[in-house]
Amino acid sequence: MRMRSKRWTDQELANNPHVIKDAEEKKGHWAEYFGNDHPIYIEVGCGKGNFISKNAEKYPYINFIGIEKQHTIIGIAARKAGDLPNLALIETDAKDLNELFEVGEFQRIYLNFSDPWPKRRNYKRRLTYREFLVSYRALFGEKGEIFFKTDNRSLFEFSLEEFSADKWLLSHISLDLHHSPYAAENIMTEYEERFSSMGMPIYRLEARFGVEPDPMPSSAVLPAADEDTETPLAIQAAE
Ligand SMILES: C[S@@+](CC[C@H](N)C(=O)[O-])C[C@H]1O[C@@H](n2cnc3c(N)ncnc32)[C@H](O)[C@@H]1O
Repeated sequence: MRMRSKRWTDQELANNPHVIKDAEEKKGHWAEYFGNDHPIYIEVGCGKGNFISKNAEKYPYINFIGIEKQHTIIGIAARKAGDLPNLALIETDAKDLNELFEVGEFQRIYLNFSDPWPKRRNYKRRLTYREFLVSYRALFGEKGEIFFKTDNRSLFEFSLEEFSADKWLLSHISLDLHHSPYAAENIMTEYEERFSSMGMPIYRLEARFGVEPDPMPSSAVLPAADEDTETPLAIQAAE
């Protein structure tokens, strides 16, 4: 949904120190910009910035960069950024990421409630379309990870296929995030608040290459099959 430009937006974007106006010039120099060599996580399509600013607050030893192509929306995100030193915002399109970052300069991408583009002829605009995955992979370099969540089952299933075709390792998958072991650590986005308050399930996954997944939350791990463990009845019946 495109918002009408608000009068204060230009002023906010011009004056807010979190909004990076010369982002192309920071390419290869993001560690200098943040003044440390902490990992950099980016959110593509950060919207009004709830998720990224809360993450920056919760994880001060990670640097967060929000990318958003809509002028008015990123203005709202800028207003929420407070004085967090580990948060930057860039108004640009995801297709231009390689003009902003050197290979290996960021370690994780968040894709939250990306536009679903329901018509088949528009699938190539989906941020998990294979060409996007190939371009993210090239920018990650040797290793990288993408955390993805959506309310849209069709987009989720499409994304599973795309990640899988490009040979990403998938883990931490849930078809109902808010009733899963991943809920405890979850930080909600604006869209997530809205959809979950309507009772809609939220789908999520993690996709990686060149790096092992974090351990699963203990409640998501099945007990190891050893001699002391009784075989579940369902399996006994099938044997
Ligand atoms: C459905 S909204 C979700 C916003 C936020 N992530 C949330 O969950 O509340 C999708 C956002 O992604 C942005 N977006 C879509 N395609 C983009 C692209 N190619 N580059 C940058 N931003 C994009 C849109 O402008 C919009 O603000």
